[in-house]
Amino acid sequence: MATKPERFITDGIRIDGRRPEEIRPIKIEVGVLDRADGSCYIEHGLNKILAAVYGPREVHPRHMQRPTTAIVRFRYNMASFSVEERKRPGPDRRSTEVSKVSREALEPVIFRENFPKASIDVFVEVLQADAGTRTVGINAASVALADAGIPMRGLVSACAVGKVDGELVLDPMKEEDNYGEADMPLAMTQKGEITLLQMDGNLTAEELERAIEMAQKGCRTIYELQRDALIERYKKEIEKEENNKEEEEEEENK
Ligand code: CDP
Repeated sequence: MATKPERFITDGIRIDGRRPEEIRPIKIEVGVLDRADGSCYIEHGLNKILAAVYGPREVHPRHMQRPTTAIVRFRYNMASFSVEERKRPGPDRRSTEVSKVSREALEPVIFRENFPKASIDVFVEVLQADAGTRTVGINAASVALADAGIPMRGLVSACAVGKVDGELVLDPMKEEDNYGEADMPLAMTQKGEITLLQMDGNLTAEELERAIEMAQKGCRTIYELQRDALIERYKKEIEKEENNKEEEEEEENK
């Protein structure tokens, strides 16, 4: 494992060249899997994460059906080659926890009541991990849900705030997460409602307040990238629809 750096911040610059409130570079691709109803691939710093959505579809096993609402199932999985020390394949306590909190971060924006007895299944596969995988997984899942055409109140965006050398930093990377003093992932809806808030380590009440504000700012930046990626994917379809509408209107006016 990488060793602990002597200093995390030198002259206001972090070990990977970022300023404290700067997010890692992000690349979002929508609709990358042909067999899923919706999908999204995100590179966020050194993280590489894929999300696939299936549904709404009939629930199996049947006894899990809910008569008035759809159920959401979320499976977060880390590939064994995604981390420095090979991860034992299969679910473990950590992935069960991440799956649960990620599902709960997304559920509030999904119109589940539109699909009684159905399931909406979300799969997140971490191909390469470098801290913040739960937040990147939520970002990818949110876009994949939209790509699947699941009716939603808006997107969910997530990012973390850490603390290194006594200073708060947005979007910690691996060394900052491993050796830092705190790590606080947060997810929020487009309206700014917080749907996930966790914390490892120690922050004062004042730091916590500032960390929440910082994470919310990060989420707003990420939201714009998610939205742009969806627009890019559907630009052609939107243009086609607009052209058709114009043609129809012209026909009507003749
Ligand atoms: O990934 P996230 O920050 O959401 O969760 P974490 O439990 O705080 O894990 C932080 C990082 O530790 C992960 O992103 C991985 O880079 C690393 N990790 C690892 O190397 N091996 C594991 N079995 C689990 C996590």
